[in-house]
Parts: sequence; C-alpha cells; structure tokens
Amino acid sequence: MDCHEAIFGRRSCRNFKNQPVEPEKIQRLLEAALYAPSPANKQPWEFIVTSNLKYNEQIKATSDVTKEKLAVRSGWKWLPVFDLSFLLQAPTLIVVIGDPSRNGAEQFLDDPSPGYLESCSAAVQNLMLSAHAQGLGTLWFSLFEKGDVRKIFGISEDKDPIGVICVGYPEKIGTPPARKGIEDKVTFLD
Ligand SMILES: Cc1cc2nc3c(=O)[nH]c(=O)nc-3n(C[C@H](O)[C@H](O)[C@H](O)COP(=O)(O)O)c2cc1C
Repeated sequence: MDCHEAIFGRRSCRNFKNQPVEPEKIQRLLEAALYAPSPANKQPWEFIVTSNLKYNEQIKATSDVTKEKLAVRSGWKWLPVFDLSFLLQAPTLIVVIGDPSRNGAEQFLDDPSPGYLESCSAAVQNLMLSAHAQGLGTLWFSLFEKGDVRKIFGISEDKDPIGVICVGYPEKIGTPPARKGIEDKVTFLD
C-alpha cells in the first residue's frame, strides 16, 4: 500500500471481528514501530503483546471505573455513554511503554520536551499505519490510570505506559472525523 493511501485511509477502529490476527502480521507491525525515529536513536520504547482475553477484561473493568470518574470531572456528556466494548473484542492488545530515562539532548534544554514520549508516539503511528496496510484496524486507547495498567501488566514505576493499542480485523469503520485544513493550521512565512 502506498504511504499516502495508508495515512489517509487509517481510521480508529472500535468494532473488531472475532478473528485472530496472524503472528506474522503482528511481527511486521512491531518491526514498523521499532523503525520510528527517536532523539539520539535512544529507542525509548518497549511493547507487551497479548492475545489473552483476561487482559482485555481487566482493562475494560478498570477503564469503566476511570470513565465514570472522568465524566464527573469533565462534565462531558458523551463520556458516560461511551461504550468501551471494543476493548473486549480486540483479539490482540499491544501495550506501549515509554522509558522516561531515555531522552536525547533535548532533555538538557532550558524548557525540555519529553523526547521519550514523542518517540513512542512516532512508534505508535508507524505501528498503526503498518496495521492498516496489512488490512488490520487499530485503536490507540488511553482512557486509563497509568497505575492500573502498571498493575495489570506488571510494569515498573519508572516506566510510562503510554497506550494500549487494540489490534484486529475491522468489522466496521466509521466515517472519518473532520479535519481542519491547511488554511486553519499552517502558517507559511516568506
Ligand atoms: C494519544 C491518543 C489517545 C487516544 N485515546 C483514545 C481513547 O482512549 N479512546 C478512544 O476511543 N480513542 C482514542 N484515541 C483515538 C482518537 O479519538 C482518534 O484518533 C481521533 O478521534 C481521530 O480519529 P481517527 O483516528 O479515526 O482519524 C486516541 C488517539 C490518540 C492520538
């Protein structure tokens, strides 16, 4: 698949088929993740891959509680009715874990940016585009307290669980949410 086709064709998937994902496809999208750029090539990421549904159930249970809490805090009306069932459907989960001790030279700036986090985001994007190019759907899920995810997956305190990526064959893909255009988001300077 052409790179632009992958970029413009990828959509967040919240409806997965009851169909396992071939290990070779998981292998390929992990390789794509590992090819992401990172400051000073620090590669500040680790991944946990599981197809054991007990983890889906645990994530769903904890995220339902978190969702209620966030609905109160935010006042957002859509949150209480936001159905997290896709967490139970996804045949494979990939937990993306950042290592905050592995930043590049940018950590010594007066106003440092979290290079490890930026790198992991690039890795997730590579992973999702590779998945799409292989006919798979993904969802970057983040509606959890990090402590809960650390407990579920046995992740140490010094590591940052950045996201749980749901991976599977899409049952249904929604219409793409609108994007603002170049005229709204870009400034060209002479
Ligand atoms: C950092 C990050 C966290 C996200 N967390 C969630 C999430 O917890 N639940 C969810 O349903 N979607 C989540 N999304 C997906 C976004 O809602 C989605 O990317 C956005 O609405 C644009 O839709 P698209 O991915 O189909 O283009 C997340 C996306 C990003 C980049």
